[in-house]
Amino acid sequence: MIKKGIILAGGKGTRMSPLTKAVNKQLLPIHDKPLIFYPLSILMLAKIKNILIIVNKGQLNQYKKILPNGKNLGIEINYLEQDKPRGLPDAFVVGEKFIGKDNVAMILGDNFFYGQNLTSQLLNYTKLKKGAKVVLHRVQKPESFGVAKINKKNKIMSIKEKPKKFLSDLAITGLYFFDYNVVKYAKKLKPSKRGEVEIVDLLNFYRIKNQLSAEIIGRGGAWLDTGSIEDFYKTSAFVSAIENRQGLKVACLEEIAFNYKWIGKKEINNAINFYGQCNYSNYLKKL
Ligand code: DAU
Repeated sequence: MIKKGIILAGGKGTRMSPLTKAVNKQLLPIHDKPLIFYPLSILMLAKIKNILIIVNKGQLNQYKKILPNGKNLGIEINYLEQDKPRGLPDAFVVGEKFIGKDNVAMILGDNFFYGQNLTSQLLNYTKLKKGAKVVLHRVQKPESFGVAKINKKNKIMSIKEKPKKFLSDLAITGLYFFDYNVVKYAKKLKPSKRGEVEIVDLLNFYRIKNQLSAEIIGRGGAWLDTGSIEDFYKTSAFVSAIENRQGLKVACLEEIAFNYKWIGKKEINNAINFYGQCNYSNYLKKL
């Protein structure tokens, strides 16, 4: 079982400036909570309790105000800074010590997943022992993402970052599972033409060795990434619609921890005090 996870939550957020001039993108709101709650909830649902959050240089204090060290959630949160956005695989170089000799999951700080059976799927993905695993989702505009072409047996035939020519409509989502060799491979990568090391190049190390597997989230599941301000509004509307209809929250971290019995009533009460008078606290009171 994979027990360690990385949230890559740095990046310049240039596309969303001026909103991101003073605040990191992952701390901006998706409906009623900061964006970072959503990818963190995914790792927690996968029962990953040892978490490294990689943030931009100088933005550590912002994060620690809202997610101190994880104790309040019965988990462990560590932080490291990335001095500049060198590309997604840089997470494994920055996180080398954290990973050690263990397999690891990574989720991008701006990725949102929702759907029935998601938790059982996640728990399945963390069974990975050797190689790497990507999670795919059908999209209308594949040219905006990394994409994967698969054969009838779900075997990945080729992968490409933001292909101009159509390759497949299966986007590679920002949720990945790797064995510990990932650090070794990440260190071998050279920056591409756009000056970043590329996740598809890293995945190709595994693919060439026949060690890359794919899981597909079907049309009953939602995957959204929040690259632009429009995406923020759309994802917020999605969360708002579900929460209002059901009266249940998406990505309430304390609820997940409470249901897994990682925390008890005491921690829930502490959280209510911490957040103060707000809807989120009212929801916690009902737990
Ligand atoms: O969301 C899925 C897509 O994410 C994949 O389909 C692509 O293959 C993958 O390359 C990535 O594409 P994006 O264009 O969305 O990547 P972006 O540069 O926007 O970075 C994604 C997140 O990672 C963002 O929240 C910022 C953070 N980041 C990015 C880089 C390059 C870092 O923290 N450090 C970095 O060095």
